[in-house]
Amino acid sequence: MAYNHIPVMREETMYYLNCAPGKIVADCTLGGCGHAAAIAEKILPDGLLIGIDQDADAIENAEQELAPWSGNIRLVHDNFVNLPHILSSLKIDAIDAILVDLGLSYDQIEFSGRGFSFKKDEPLDMRMNPQSPETAADIVNTAGTKYLTRILREFGEEQRAGRIARRIEKQRKNAPIETSRQLAELIREAVGRKSAAKSRIHPATRAFMALRIAVNRELEALGTFLKDAVAHLKPGGRICVISFHSLEDRIVKRSFNEFAAGCQCPPDFPVCACGKEPVLRVLTRKVRKPSEAEIRANPMSRSARLRAAEKLE
Ligand SMILES: C[S@@+](CC[C@H](N)C(=O)[O-])C[C@H]1O[C@@H](n2cnc3c(N)ncnc32)[C@H](O)[C@@H]1O
Repeated sequence: MAYNHIPVMREETMYYLNCAPGKIVADCTLGGCGHAAAIAEKILPDGLLIGIDQDADAIENAEQELAPWSGNIRLVHDNFVNLPHILSSLKIDAIDAILVDLGLSYDQIEFSGRGFSFKKDEPLDMRMNPQSPETAADIVNTAGTKYLTRILREFGEEQRAGRIARRIEKQRKNAPIETSRQLAELIREAVGRKSAAKSRIHPATRAFMALRIAVNRELEALGTFLKDAVAHLKPGGRICVISFHSLEDRIVKRSFNEFAAGCQCPPDFPVCACGKEPVLRVLTRKVRKPSEAEIRANPMSRSARLRAAEKLE
């Protein structure tokens, strides 16, 4: 089935990626290929598009969506954290542009059957790559209360983390928690129905996001990836990251600023001792957000944040 995901901030992203005929570009989160198709149109037939996704369904979809350009496209089913290995297996050392559009596609939420949404009654899985070892149910049914609390607090910024973790622990003594609906109901009970009714968002929103981030080790992957991605950009090459979560955006902002900073020696050092040179120029001094019109047309874009940078010569 073809994907229904609507690409977010496509025009702005294309502007910053600066694609041109003949360039080598990696779209590290293919999803529904909205961005990938726009990139392919700009760089092919002479360029090369490397398309990565850790979800085999997205790769299958890409085989159809990108079929018109298949000669100049390499599709890779892998985690983008393995970018150095992916490039070396393609015998490519450096590339012109890299895009990462984080999080989930509409199709993963709506049709994967993996329990990403608290609105559905599905097995509590949440793996973007069903071959990875740990499901959300594994964490919910086996993690210690302290660890569970930490996940909910750190990744979901959930203020009622302790209360939710204790309610989960109590429930699983009777029987394991197996479905997304079961977990959502438990969270509603833990939070209290009155307070849940008053809240602007569903009481399980933050806990579901936290579990998904933990299952897919999303923040760890992003930090490692950014370092490797910058190392594999050609001078003048561009990197764009679209994130949907303040923790992700903070990692991107900090990494870009660190790469853009020069000498870190104390001001009273007569000469530089650290030897640190700026590697990137940040192109988005202020983070870019979707327009009101885009949010109206595609509410999923609401929390998107785009940052872009250019590798220095
Ligand atoms: C928001 S969607 C991308 C949408 C895409 N830009 C488009 O235009 O349709 C995110 C995709 O990234 C994939 N993904 C998320 N984290 C990943 C990772 N660490 N490695 C590889 N793919 C990842 C997900 O499986 C999902 O298909």
